[in-house]
Amino acid sequence: MKAIRIYGSSGHATVSLDEIAVPNPATGEILIRVHATAVTPGELEWSTTWQTQKGAPRVHAIPLHEFSGVVEQVGPNTEGFKKGDAVYGLNSWFSDGAAADFCLTTPVEIAAKPAKIDHVQAAVVPISGLTAWQALFDHGKLTGTQKVLIHGGAGGVGSFAIQLAAWTGAFVATTVSTANIEFARSLGAAEVIDYHKTRFEDQVRDADLVLDLVGGDTFHRSLHAIKQGGKVVTIATSSESTDDPKVKAAFFIVEPSRPQLTELARLIDTGILRPIVSEVVPMANAAKAFLSPKKTAPGKVALRVLTE
Ligand SMILES: NC(=O)c1ccc[n+]([C@@H]2O[C@H](COP(=O)([O-])OP(=O)(O)OC[C@H]3O[C@@H](n4cnc5c(N)ncnc54)[C@H](OP(=O)(O)O)[C@@H]3O)[C@@H](O)[C@H]2O)c1
Repeated sequence: MKAIRIYGSSGHATVSLDEIAVPNPATGEILIRVHATAVTPGELEWSTTWQTQKGAPRVHAIPLHEFSGVVEQVGPNTEGFKKGDAVYGLNSWFSDGAAADFCLTTPVEIAAKPAKIDHVQAAVVPISGLTAWQALFDHGKLTGTQKVLIHGGAGGVGSFAIQLAAWTGAFVATTVSTANIEFARSLGAAEVIDYHKTRFEDQVRDADLVLDLVGGDTFHRSLHAIKQGGKVVTIATSSESTDDPKVKAAFFIVEPSRPQLTELARLIDTGILRPIVSEVVPMANAAKAFLSPKKTAPGKVALRVLTE
């Protein structure tokens, strides 16, 4: 099969489109024929890209852990799915990812693909949708009577977070560039701040929750945008490697979740949630999209692996 693999080291990474063997599903595993995957900026800097679960150096990792595709083969003693099922999901950060014709996953990492969208649209959901869900509800404990400030509202995670927070009834404020103001409003943001022109903490001081998708200075300034007892949750790549205890306490890494993927699919199929694809890149151009992900539109860059 064709697979994109990472070479070099953190900060000096290159990628190559290689020809390698199709993996075999072991007990408890499922082999997916990948139709599409998506690019999350920052993956080349994540520790899991360069280290195994036991902390040993990791070589030639296949990146991009979210996918939409079809079950090709089910390993022994593996329940819940059968060959031909259309599924989407997020596999383990320590497994080889989905920038390949096939990838391995497990039943707890996947769910039935949303029926009303195609594989390319479904592929941008698992990481961004699950991250937004877990940040807002699992870590942020957001309720429908609260106010949330979402940084980076036009990005992959931000575009899901605005929609999910608005769906619960919360008051949604967000920060975006000038060009994305109308886009953020169309997703349900009630207060849109152009972060190039306005310091968000001058405008918002009473948030119950701030979702920091940017990191660094934005995290620290966000502490001035919450009311007493409020909370900041961060997912930014720069927040992973810091020693600052406040940032560490606010940081989490998204986890696969079949129930949450099932709920996201339901929200998509009922028209409540809209996945935003900023661009569709063919596998042949994947290296460029992955090494220097420059977006020209809001949402997330999808990688088409199989032309349907
Ligand atoms: N911890 C986890 O589990 C996890 C999961 C997913 C992603 N991540 C990380 O989270 C970050 C965001 O991911 P993503 O996929 O949403 O990235 P993305 O699609 O590139 O979105 C980032 C957005 O941030 C905005 N932005 C840049 N500087 C800003 C600032 N100073 N203030 C407000 N907004 C700003 C940009 O908006 P404009 O275009 O409007 O300027 C851009 O759309 C990345 O670092 C990624 O690696 C972590």
